[in-house]
Amino acid sequence: MSQTKIPVLDLKPQYESIKGEIQAAINRVIESSQFIMGPDVKEFEREVAAYLGVKYAIGVNSGTDALVIGLRAAGIGEGDEVITTPFSFFATAESINNVGAKVVFADIDGSTYNIDPQQIRDKITSRTKAIMPVHLYGQPAAMGQIREIAQEHGLKVIEDCAQSFGARYAGQCQLDCVCQEQTREAISGKATGTIGDVGAFSFFPSKNLGGYGDGGMIVTDDEWVAEVARMLRIHGAKKKYHNEVVGYNSRLDTIQAAVLRVKLHYIDKWNQGRRRVAEVYNRLLADVEGVVTPGLAEGHVFHQYTVRVTGGKRDGLKAYLAEQGIGTMIYYPVPQDQLPVYKGQYEACPVSDLAAQEVLSLPIWPELEEEVIEKVVGVLREGLD
Ligand SMILES: Cc1ncc(COP(=O)(O)O)c(C=O)c1O
Repeated sequence: MSQTKIPVLDLKPQYESIKGEIQAAINRVIESSQFIMGPDVKEFEREVAAYLGVKYAIGVNSGTDALVIGLRAAGIGEGDEVITTPFSFFATAESINNVGAKVVFADIDGSTYNIDPQQIRDKITSRTKAIMPVHLYGQPAAMGQIREIAQEHGLKVIEDCAQSFGARYAGQCQLDCVCQEQTREAISGKATGTIGDVGAFSFFPSKNLGGYGDGGMIVTDDEWVAEVARMLRIHGAKKKYHNEVVGYNSRLDTIQAAVLRVKLHYIDKWNQGRRRVAEVYNRLLADVEGVVTPGLAEGHVFHQYTVRVTGGKRDGLKAYLAEQGIGTMIYYPVPQDQLPVYKGQYEACPVSDLAAQEVLSLPIWPELEEEVIEKVVGVLREGLD
């Protein structure tokens, strides 16, 4: 196998473009010696809240912790059922189990890879307490319909926004969303994470807004949820050494906050760059038989550019691209419900199972040049011949 010449992700061009600012921000924290909950954490929380249009933002040390603490703060725990998608990274289901609740999987929509609202309806029981949609690959889930279901059944909505920083509902939440006009109007223009009761973001380095280490954020408009989340992230204490509940050590690192404050200025530009890459791919792949390209729904921020390779050809194509030095990824080869941790506990979700066999994520980052995309598509065509 030859060396990868086009990686699936390259973070260096972004760093090169903001190197001076990043180094100044890191140095500022080091010079101040305020490493734990320094002023940059508070400022970053304020800036994210303003950017997203939400009242409260609470920095934590990962996207996973944002989900766990967000669930607990929203009152989800032992004996509750939470409906989520099988087609996500395991942190999604794991967070539900970690607060003592039961994970219930509802199958996905085969064109968006996001949870299918009709499947959610079918899974509601008297124990259902919440829905956890994931805005997979940066595409907003069908939040209009999800909001309607939640209101009808008195459920909380915890949004897993790990892959969707900056995604907004620009009048249409998803290509096939069929929510009512008044719901659509209510969510129009809103950012993912601000429609449900709690939004949980990840700043893992590869994310659209990625730090240089772990990081996460909980957002909410609910004052009580914000207060509990703030307390849980620091050992369950509002006041130092006056711990009220059993919490966590899950503070957002100050150096990460300083880095992320710099990057927040550029997020819209970078997300537009990702959309441009997706548009070029879609154009170049339009006539390639056996490859299904993603829809360009408004507000989709293309954390991943993921195609479906039909006819059982995905793994062979991936291997061919690798031989030619092109990196790709499969998100996700094993759906959560089929992971060894849940062996035998869940019935298959067929749409998600088929997606796991066919999806392939191609190289994408905001600065990716058109000629490199042309090269990827050219090799992909050869691999399918
Ligand atoms: C959908 C999803 N949820 C949750 C997480 C967890 O985020 P983190 O790695 O910051 O804990 C990730 C990313 O890794 C993710 O992709």
